[in-house]
Amino acid sequence: MFKILRTQTLGTGIKLFVLDAPRIARKQRPGQFVILRLHDQGERIPLTIEDSDPEAGTINIAVQAIGKTTHLLSMLNEGDYVLDVVGPLGHPSEVRNYGTVAVIAGSIGTAMAYPTARALKQAGNHVIFIEGARRKDLVVLEDEVRAVSDETYMMTDDGSHGEQGLVTAKLQQLFDAGWKIDFVLAVGPVPMMAAVANLTRPRKIRTVVSLNSIMVDGTGMCGGCRVLVGNTSKFACVDGPDFDAEEVNFEVLTRRNQMYRNNERRSLEEFLANPEKDLALVHDSCRLREVEAHATACGQRSK
Ligand SMILES: Cc1cc2nc3c(=O)[nH]c(=O)nc-3n(C[C@H](O)[C@H](O)[C@H](O)COP(=O)(O)OP(=O)(O)OC[C@H]3O[C@@H](n4cnc5c(N)ncnc54)[C@H](O)[C@@H]3O)c2cc1C
Ligand code: FES
Repeated sequence: MFKILRTQTLGTGIKLFVLDAPRIARKQRPGQFVILRLHDQGERIPLTIEDSDPEAGTINIAVQAIGKTTHLLSMLNEGDYVLDVVGPLGHPSEVRNYGTVAVIAGSIGTAMAYPTARALKQAGNHVIFIEGARRKDLVVLEDEVRAVSDETYMMTDDGSHGEQGLVTAKLQQLFDAGWKIDFVLAVGPVPMMAAVANLTRPRKIRTVVSLNSIMVDGTGMCGGCRVLVGNTSKFACVDGPDFDAEEVNFEVLTRRNQMYRNNERRSLEEFLANPEKDLALVHDSCRLREVEAHATACGQRSK
C-alpha cells in the first residue's frame, strides 16, 4: 500500500499526488512511469513519475481525470492509500547534450515531459519549452517549466493564456525565425505528436515521442501496449515509452487506443452515477491489506 502524503490541484480535473514510495523514489529516472491499481477489482493504469525525492522516499504523479480510474484516483486525498504501485517501469529518456532542444508538451503531457526537460537542462542544453493547452485552466506546472527552460512559450487554443494557437504553430514560428534546433521531445495527445513529427521530419531533426498506448501489466507479457515502430511490433512498456517519431506508425496507435472507447465511456458513466461504490472498494482493499500485513507481522514476531 502506498500512502498519499499530499495532493495539489494543478488545473481543472488535474491533480498532483505525492506518494510514499521509497524504493521507487530511489531508482526513478526521467521518462519512467509506474503502473498503479486502486483496489483489488480495479484496472491497472500507467502514470509518469513527475518528480521524486529519494531522501524523503516520495514520488509525484500528476493525473488528468479522463476515464473511470483516473476520476476515481482524483477523488482520493491526503491520508488515503493506493493499493499497488509498480515501478519504475520503462526505459529512462535518453538525456545528453544535443545543443538546442525543443520540449513540446500538451497539457498533462507537461507533467510527463517536465522531468526530462529538467535533465536536458542539467546536461547543458539550451531548452525551449512549448506548452500547449486548450484553455488557461488546463495549463499546468508553468513555474516549474519556466525554472528549467531558457525560453518558455505558453500556447492556448482560445488565447486565454499566453499566445493563441497550437504548439506546432509556435514551432513553425521558431523555424521561420531561423532557430537551429538539434533535438525535439514531444509528449501529449497522439495527433499533436504526429503533427510535430510532420514538421521536424523534412528538417531531419531527431524527434522523440513518449507513446501513450494502452497498458495493462507493464512487463511485456500482455501485448496490450503493442505499437508499430519502423514496421516492427514493439511494446511501449518495455521497449519505450520513448521512440523515434520518424519510425512510429501513429495511425495504428490511434486505432488501438480507440479500440475500447465504447466500453470506456460506459464504464465512466456507470462510475459517475455511483462513485461511492468504487471509493468503498478502494478503502476496503487497503484496509484488508493493512489487516493482512499486521497479521503477518504479528505471526512473525510470535515465532
Ligand atoms: C507510459 C504512460 C504514461 C502516462 N502518464 C500519464 C500521466 O502522467 N498522467 C496522466 O494523467 N495520464 C498518463 N497516461 C495516460 C493514462 O494512463 C490514461 O489516462 C489512463 O490509463 C486512463 O484510464 P481511465 O480508466 O481513467 O480511462 P479509460 O476509460 O480507460 O480511457 C479513457 C481514455 O483514455 C485512453 N486510455 C485508456 N487507457 C490508456 C492508457 N493506458 N494510456 C493512455 N491512454 C489510455 C483511452 O483511449 C480513452 O480515450 C500515461 C500513459 C502511458 C502509456
Ligand atoms: S503493458 Fe502489457 S505488454 Fe506492455
